[in-house]
Amino acid sequence: MRDRWQRAIPALGTGSCQVWWAHTSAAFPQLLDLLDEEERGRHARFLRGQDRALFLVSHALARIVAARHAATVPRAIRFSALPSGGGIAGSKPRLVGPASGLELSISHSGQRVVVALSRGVALGVDVERVSSASEESSLVQSVLPRSEQQELEILPAPMRPWAFCRYWTRKEAVLKATGDGLSVSPKRIAVSPPTGAPALLHWSGPGRPAQPVHLYDLESEPGYAAALAAIGSPLECSEHDGSEILCAWR
Ligand SMILES: CC(C)(COP(=O)(O)OP(=O)(O)OC[C@H]1O[C@@H](n2cnc3c(N)ncnc32)[C@H](O)[C@@H]1OP(=O)(O)O)[C@@H](O)C(=O)NCCC(=O)NCCS
Repeated sequence: MRDRWQRAIPALGTGSCQVWWAHTSAAFPQLLDLLDEEERGRHARFLRGQDRALFLVSHALARIVAARHAATVPRAIRFSALPSGGGIAGSKPRLVGPASGLELSISHSGQRVVVALSRGVALGVDVERVSSASEESSLVQSVLPRSEQQELEILPAPMRPWAFCRYWTRKEAVLKATGDGLSVSPKRIAVSPPTGAPALLHWSGPGRPAQPVHLYDLESEPGYAAALAAIGSPLECSEHDGSEILCAWR
């Protein structure tokens, strides 16, 4: 019964944020029916099956959850701008039509997908798979200001890949909440040390949001780091299993 999905998604209150997790194993061809023509075109252009699965799961899940909160159906969800094809540069997904008023952010890495939604509070979410490549010195130097590099260096070596990803996800969550993405260097913003409570400490140069930025670390599965940023009001975040929701569409 496909209407199970509506009952399985709790209502989204003002001041709340829902974070929906899913795995690429939840991908199956019928989910393509939920996407629009542009999304299906982007899906078809990915060369690797893994990238197609990440895209399909994230966009189908975003549509399903947004549809529940906008009291409509997933195919009726419309975006004002979607990242252009090619998979690198992009723009913040903005909902228009029946779901306007909802704020949405999407991230994927490895085999994990995360979709976050709120009512009217700009947000950004980011997940990264922790790997030894996360600690390559060229990447560290391009992403972290000197003070953060020093914080990383004093940690025990086995902790550093995770710690780097915690820095990275906190920064990218902020830059996705503002809509800047990587058009602003992550080195320009400083966040709290990985073992400390998440916070935006400093933003050098122009572009700092006028309203306060609230940062949260998310409960991702082992081997991943994830964070969420909200601009303006703090959010009460709840985390949910999106793979189960997708199964209802089989
Ligand atoms: C947002 C951005 C930073 C992409 O980050 P990413 O880690 O590659 O990818 P994520 O999976 O976390 O996020 C991608 C999603 O963010 C959203 N997004 C894209 N640009 C965005 C922006 N400017 N603001 C907010 N959200 C954005 C999109 O929904 C996108 O998903 P989709 O393409 O499936 O629709 C992008 O703007 C960018 O600049 N990419 C450069 C890629 C890069 O160099 N990554 C380095 C990783 S070490």
